[in-house]
Parts: sequence; structure tokens; C-alpha cells
Amino acid sequence: MDLIKKAQEAMIKAYAPYSHFTVGCALETADGVVFTGCNVENASYGATLCAERVAISTAVSQGHLKFKKIVLVSKNPEPITPCGLCRQVMAEFFDGQTEVVCFGADGKSKTSYKFAELLPHGFTKTDLK
Ligand code: THU
Repeated sequence: MDLIKKAQEAMIKAYAPYSHFTVGCALETADGVVFTGCNVENASYGATLCAERVAISTAVSQGHLKFKKIVLVSKNPEPITPCGLCRQVMAEFFDGQTEVVCFGADGKSKTSYKFAELLPHGFTKTDLK
């Protein structure tokens, strides 16, 4: 199945009773395994997890640390891009060439980036050395 279809299916599972803004994503590892995620909100709003961080955490928890591509979809007709917090989490695991593909709800309108474009000059593990 296409990554966009998987992301759209994941979006159906979004738990978004506060914002009603549903998001889904499909994350492909370097070796071709796909993990999905949806946003998971919380009554304590700050505890909300974005779809991207759910997918990345699930993949990492199963031993996958390298990623080729993430496909993101939301209920918006136009593509959204990942929030700043998710970009920081992506910076831990994605390299500059990892593709970030963002779709509008119907899977037609699309924007595509290399991760390097989304978080230039970010703080990463290499800065800790
Ligand atoms: N959200 C995501 O899941 N991913 C994004 O890239 C942007 C925002 C979620 C968080 C929250 O549940 C809702 O969208 C509104 O911000």
C-alpha cells in the first residue's frame, strides 16, 4: 500500500477531541519497514503527542534508527509541515536527505522537502561532543 494511504488510515485513528485536528503519518525505515502514527491528545494539552513523534518513537522502540522518508497528512485541504518540536525529534534520527512529504487531506496537493531544509542550523547530538 502507498505510504499516503497508510498515513490516511492512521489519521482515522487520531485521538483529537480537543483540537479536532486529525493528523496521520507513515514512516519508512532505511530498510523498508513502515510504521504509522496519529496524533494523541491529552486533557493536559502539553502532553499531546504529534503523529510524527508517535511514529518515530514506535519505530525506535522496535530497534529502527534510520529513516528514508516520512509521509504526513492532516485534515487540512492543504499540506501542513511538521511542528518545531517534531523537527527537533526528527533531527535526532533523520539525516539531511530524509524525505519529508506533506499531503493535503485528499492526498492530492503535496509539498516535499529534504529534512535539511526544515531544520537548518539545528542543535543535534554532534554538538554535545
Ligand atoms: N499535530 C501533529 O500531529 N503533527 C503536526 O505536524 C502538527 C500538529 C497535532 C498536534 C495536535 O493534536 C493537533 O495537531 C493540533 O495542533
